[in-house]
Amino acid sequence: MKIIVYGAHDDEIPYLTQWQAKTGHTVEVHQELLDAQTVAWAAGFDGINALQTTPYSREVFAQMAAFGIHFLTIRNVGTDNIDLAAAAEYGVRIANVPAYSPNAIAEFAVTMTLHLLRRLGAVEATLATGDYQGATKFIGRELAQQTVGVVGAGRIGRAAIHLFNGFGAKVLAYDPHPVQDDGLACRYVELDELLAQADIIDLHIPGIPANDHIIDADALAKMKRGALLINTARGNLIDTQAMLAALTSGQLGGAGIDTYEHETENLLAINATGRFADPLWDRLRALPNVVLTPHIAYHTETAVQNMVDYSLNYLIEFLTQGATETEVAAR
Ligand code: NAD
Ligand code: COI
Repeated sequence: MKIIVYGAHDDEIPYLTQWQAKTGHTVEVHQELLDAQTVAWAAGFDGINALQTTPYSREVFAQMAAFGIHFLTIRNVGTDNIDLAAAAEYGVRIANVPAYSPNAIAEFAVTMTLHLLRRLGAVEATLATGDYQGATKFIGRELAQQTVGVVGAGRIGRAAIHLFNGFGAKVLAYDPHPVQDDGLACRYVELDELLAQADIIDLHIPGIPANDHIIDADALAKMKRGALLINTARGNLIDTQAMLAALTSGQLGGAGIDTYEHETENLLAINATGRFADPLWDRLRALPNVVLTPHIAYHTETAVQNMVDYSLNYLIEFLTQGATETEVAAR
């Protein structure tokens, strides 16, 4: 089979090369993203494999259909950036990798939590001024004494619940569709109760429109004063202006944000500006009780190898058997 790969990161290329050598399929690798222009390179290929957080648009699917390409596999979990209705309209079928390593993201959420609890941002900022004694003044909190509220007990949320349990924290969870898991030590509660009781609120839900700004000014006001908010899921879940106001007033004690609300528009503009230029991002970055990262919670060796191998295997299943178990249904 002839496969064209888009959005390849440097650290994926060795795994793409190994997969090609192991399977004998032809793989043409591009670092550019799949969009209305670059889709032209796919003419003559059997299937497309891609990774990006920027949109997969109607034009991409129209062009794929014109080339007779019916299958796209993505190397990641989230499908919120895909116009699934347009894909279905053009007969393009899509599969994701729902579980390349839930632990990678869950561990990152725990990392951010510990960073904020021990006030490392303030310690580092004070040390950077040369004030060694001042940097000894930031007393921390222990995770074992905290109540963690996990919103979304899917694959990543459940991995996070196990990890927080391992640290001795009390864990509450909210999920309208909880899966049966007898080994999971948490108490399911309604969202309002979770917001009111948790010292740490940890989001692991998809960025579908229904979840847009689930954490808004009202939700922030329902939290305990000084609570910490962790988002490694999707940027649209939090009203960032409201979060900044809550951080400024002290209602929110800190935030760990791997997925930033305006990530997509900034990434789409980056070619013009040459940098991630966003005043709101810069204001958040300046706060010692905020840790911002550039959508890297997934980024481990295990995850990256699985993203490449699983997504290419799913594409071959699509092409040779007409089906693969991780096919994403149109919303
Ligand atoms: P999943 O589908 O296994 O679980 C999601 C869970 O959220 C489901 O159980 C669902 O019932 C629940 N849910 C949906 N809406 C909810 C709501 N409003 N309140 C409470 N629960 C709700 O997905 P997953 O593998 O756990 O991934 C979760 C999200 O993590 C993905 O959708 C993706 O956006 C994000 N993600 C981020 C990274 C990263 O690098 N930062 C990597 C992978 C995934
Ligand atoms: C996902 O897998 O959904 C992620 O958020 C990871 C990213 C590389 C797209």
